Amino acid sequence: MTEAKKLYIKTYGCQMNVYDSERMAEALGASGYVMTDAPDQADMILLNTCHIREKAAEKVYSELGRLKPLKLTNPDLKIGVAGCVAQAEGEEIMRRQPAVDLVVGPQTYHRLPAMEAAVRAGGRAVDTEFPEEDKFDHLPKGLHTRRAPAAFLTVQEGCDKFCAFCVVPYTRGAEVSRPVARVMTEARDLVARGVREITLLGQNVNAYHGEGDGGTWTLARLIRHLARIDRLERIRFTTSHPNDMDDDLIAAHGDEPKLMPYLHLPVQSGSDRILRAMNRKHTADAYLRLIERLRAARPDLLLSGDFIVGFPGESDADFDDTMELVRAVGYGQAFSFKYSPRPGTPAAERATVPDEVASDRLHRLQALLTQQQREVQAAMVGREVAVLFEKPGRLPGQMMGKSDYLHAVHVTDPRIEIGQIARVRITHSGPNSLGGVLAE
Ligand code: 5AD
Ligand code: SF4
Repeated sequence: MTEAKKLYIKTYGCQMNVYDSERMAEALGASGYVMTDAPDQADMILLNTCHIREKAAEKVYSELGRLKPLKLTNPDLKIGVAGCVAQAEGEEIMRRQPAVDLVVGPQTYHRLPAMEAAVRAGGRAVDTEFPEEDKFDHLPKGLHTRRAPAAFLTVQEGCDKFCAFCVVPYTRGAEVSRPVARVMTEARDLVARGVREITLLGQNVNAYHGEGDGGTWTLARLIRHLARIDRLERIRFTTSHPNDMDDDLIAAHGDEPKLMPYLHLPVQSGSDRILRAMNRKHTADAYLRLIERLRAARPDLLLSGDFIVGFPGESDADFDDTMELVRAVGYGQAFSFKYSPRPGTPAAERATVPDEVASDRLHRLQALLTQQQREVQAAMVGREVAVLFEKPGRLPGQMMGKSDYLHAVHVTDPRIEIGQIARVRITHSGPNSLGGVLAE
């Protein structure tokens, strides 16, 4: 028997890329590849890339430069670029980096086995189509081998919102929802393989409108249906747009026990003027009222968000409005970025804020968000939370899991098994995780 070919995948960017990388590994698994953690052992290296900010895209070119010499020691090595940089700059990648053998966009990776065969035969291959067929129908079924107790499941892709700064509607295309039956089959398959928590993914997941029994289903309806799967204990979803939080989804946070009390709901800015310039189509006040309704449904809901500072035209007063909104909400976690002009987006044509100004704002915002995160974590000390244990921690005998609120929790106790959900009393809070002991 010939030795299995080895595949190394490096994933950049969002959780949807993490999911896609798993599916690509399965697709190439059907061509005889097994995964490796060592790029220098690999016969195929895939970079699953992110195009959301300029830095993310530049990282891909530097990584390709670093990988290139591996081809000298292993002439059979093939290098591929997948994901959103591939979609946006496929031909340019081929030109800039001759070591790249294949480029595949996010909608065509079910064709990887054929592309792999083509490059093995000595060619180079580019496929960044938005094809007629649905890739999910053409990917291997039931090949999920490794199964950590928490899994991602993409239910929706693309976006129709066209926020003025964002490349997603261009790289990932128009909003498409997967049919309910397909999602249910995949979820049941994951649960059969030991998964106890599923995070439903989509670039704009709460705009989900998949075909199901009796017509189009909302995300809330899908969540309520998934919640009936025995042994599936936890459901989460990300990422959402404030304008798509409908009444039923808000209510589900209060009355669906399997829906976890953590919500990532980006607002980007607290200034109405900037929100309008961003084409967000809601005001800061509308967002705050929405948060109030969510907290009325689920008082302990932990909120997370995304922020952009230095968007074109952002004044000191606009930035103060963002700081004010952050103080009003009190985030448990948040991500903040300096605005990065993306080619082809409307905002890229506008005059930018000086870099020192944007950097200064980013520092101030991050200091506030870090302080809020610490406060929310500190408030967990002394409380009992449910933790789903996912993997060993870094210290001997230690296990790491996630609380209902998505906090990483470390516990050292020989009784803990991976996949177990246990009550944990939190005893201390570190910079990015909590520590605790099993509750009696
Ligand atoms: N510049 C900076 N941040 C951006 N994001 C999206 N596009 C840009 C951009 N051009 C941020 C938004 C989004 C998150 C995924 O990335 O905050 O919610
Ligand atoms: Fe991009 Fe999200 Fe806006 Fe869609 S809603 S355009 S994915 S930032």
